[in-house]
Amino acid sequence: MSEPGKTKFQVDLRRHLRETGVEENLIHLICEIAEASKYIIHSIRTGELGVAGTSNLYGEQQLALDVLADRILRKRLDHSGVVANMMSEEMDQIIPVSPDWEGKYSVAFDPLDGSSLVDVNLAVGTIVAIFPGYNLMRPGREQAAAMYILYGPRTTLVYSVGDGVFEFGMNNLMEYTLLREHITLKPKGSLYSPGGVRNQYTPGVESYVSSLEKRGVKLRYSGGFVPDINQVLLKGEGIFLYPHLKNLPRGKLRLLFELSPMAYLIEQAGGAASDGKQPILDLMPNDIHERAPVFIGCKEDVLLAEKMLRTHEGGPAAQPEKTRTVKKSA
Ligand code: AHG
Ligand code: MN
Ligand code: MN
Repeated sequence: MSEPGKTKFQVDLRRHLRETGVEENLIHLICEIAEASKYIIHSIRTGELGVAGTSNLYGEQQLALDVLADRILRKRLDHSGVVANMMSEEMDQIIPVSPDWEGKYSVAFDPLDGSSLVDVNLAVGTIVAIFPGYNLMRPGREQAAAMYILYGPRTTLVYSVGDGVFEFGMNNLMEYTLLREHITLKPKGSLYSPGGVRNQYTPGVESYVSSLEKRGVKLRYSGGFVPDINQVLLKGEGIFLYPHLKNLPRGKLRLLFELSPMAYLIEQAGGAASDGKQPILDLMPNDIHERAPVFIGCKEDVLLAEKMLRTHEGGPAAQPEKTRTVKKSA
């Protein structure tokens, strides 16, 4: 007999992680972040909108919700007992949590991505990169796990610990129960999500996007990185790009807590993520808030972007198209 409100087939997040043999401290950490999301949902649904009267180190006005979501997650991670260091989009430095980092994890997160979209009632999300030990300043390929929570018409949680991508949905008891296992992308897609202002596209990006349009690929762009990536992942196809622009040569999205976690998930789903020249997961961050251009989604669509950028904008000599192997993350 299943518990009230739960069908007997519903597997909750903690049980799923246990059954798939995830390390105990990592289970605790992922479940603590899932718990924190319940308070973030509450603040989105009821919190005051508008600015918090403070700004982050980008000089961007911090919305009340950005600060609130950041505080909720920090507190949870601080008290989790399994975190060595943490940093977030809203912090201007890495925060040490505990010196004895053995068996613990370091976390980089975007507490509320797309927060300005809440004012117009569009979907937003939390993005989390999890590294083993104390060091966050390393290529995303070394993550122990990556996850996001999507606050949309339904609240869903997507994670990977390097053995496939799994989706959970929040049920009426506010528990996350398993919806999809081993989510995978097709080699090529029929939707594209182009960030940035078109008249700032460089020749290579312009020709790439025109080639997608000529192919009849549909434009789907919400302005929220989490829902836009979630759409590519769950439709099993598509490409998201926030490229280098004439006025933003490094693009807009941050490597540590936006691109690395999403690149990890997309590669685990058999897709690819590139800065236009090389895999996002191989980039070594030099600064905690470093930005990078991104082309992420179906592998063939990403390889085509790299090829067109090489043709139109130079860069490493055009290599014969090689299939990119999905290296199992460390
Ligand atoms: P954040 O709200 O954390 O600063 O991130 C917003 C990002 C990302 O969600 C999205 O892909 C991108 O901003 C959209 O940028 P544009 O508004 O320039 O399209
Ligand atoms: Mn963000
Ligand atoms: Mn944010």
